[in-house]
Amino acid sequence: MPDKYQPIGVFDSGYGGLTVFRELIDQLPQYDYIYLGDNARNPYGTRSFEVVYEYTWQAVNHLFERGCRLVVLACNTASAKALRNIQQIDLPRTSYPDRRVLGVIRPSVEMIPGLTKTGHVGVLGTRGTVLSESYPMEIAKISPDSPLTVVQEACPMWVPIVENNAIESPGAALFIEENLKNLFAKDPLIDTIILGCTHYPLLLDIINRFLPPGVVLLSQGHVVATKLEDYLFRHPEIEMQCSKSGRRDYLTTESAGNFDQLAKIFLGEEVRSQHVKLG
Ligand code: DGL
Repeated sequence: MPDKYQPIGVFDSGYGGLTVFRELIDQLPQYDYIYLGDNARNPYGTRSFEVVYEYTWQAVNHLFERGCRLVVLACNTASAKALRNIQQIDLPRTSYPDRRVLGVIRPSVEMIPGLTKTGHVGVLGTRGTVLSESYPMEIAKISPDSPLTVVQEACPMWVPIVENNAIESPGAALFIEENLKNLFAKDPLIDTIILGCTHYPLLLDIINRFLPPGVVLLSQGHVVATKLEDYLFRHPEIEMQCSKSGRRDYLTTESAGNFDQLAKIFLGEEVRSQHVKLG
């Protein structure tokens, strides 16, 4: 156990990553964590590859400067558009070659072959995640011998609904119903849906209202926490560097007051965040 404070960093463009954070602190409570939400620049889902990469790298650097040895991108858009460059180009070239950054797409995809019976899988995500084709590509890699059919639907209104706390509004249900109808119109044989955006579990009650019976929803929090536990077990050299006093810190690029109010609703406990500037 290190003497220094070396928390696990958890990053998202806004509040959505709290759905992953919740599971991390439930399943792995012994570690110290810092959550960073880039709420001021959210949503990322409609931004270009270059911009998402730039913002994500700034966030990761900020978390490194605060002592994180390991950062989880609890954001599909950042995982789709920035993770590979960060892992393959930035980390080896910078002064942080021994730090690690993990994403949420691969761990989610690994669950899919065990869930689908029809072999038809739906992916709901931001426009950025859908256009990146990350899910179809990763799914093709894990099941080369029995290819799965993957159909995607971008849901650009869902993140703003969450960020603006409009979950209970009648408009929210309209958008969700329409996107689900579109998805099943593309492929009625879908029996498994990946919620490929960490904001979407916050809309679960409404999503469930419009799902055909028997369809399985994969939301990422639990999966990511389980895979992180496994990763730390397989990488004791990283695990040993993570400090363990159960401390949680919260950072936001927006107003700390706003963050505390909404984060409390989404996380189910009091949060006292600090405002930070990135870049
Ligand atoms: N939670 C992010 C994700 O998983 C939301 C992206 C956004 O900011 O649009 O993709």
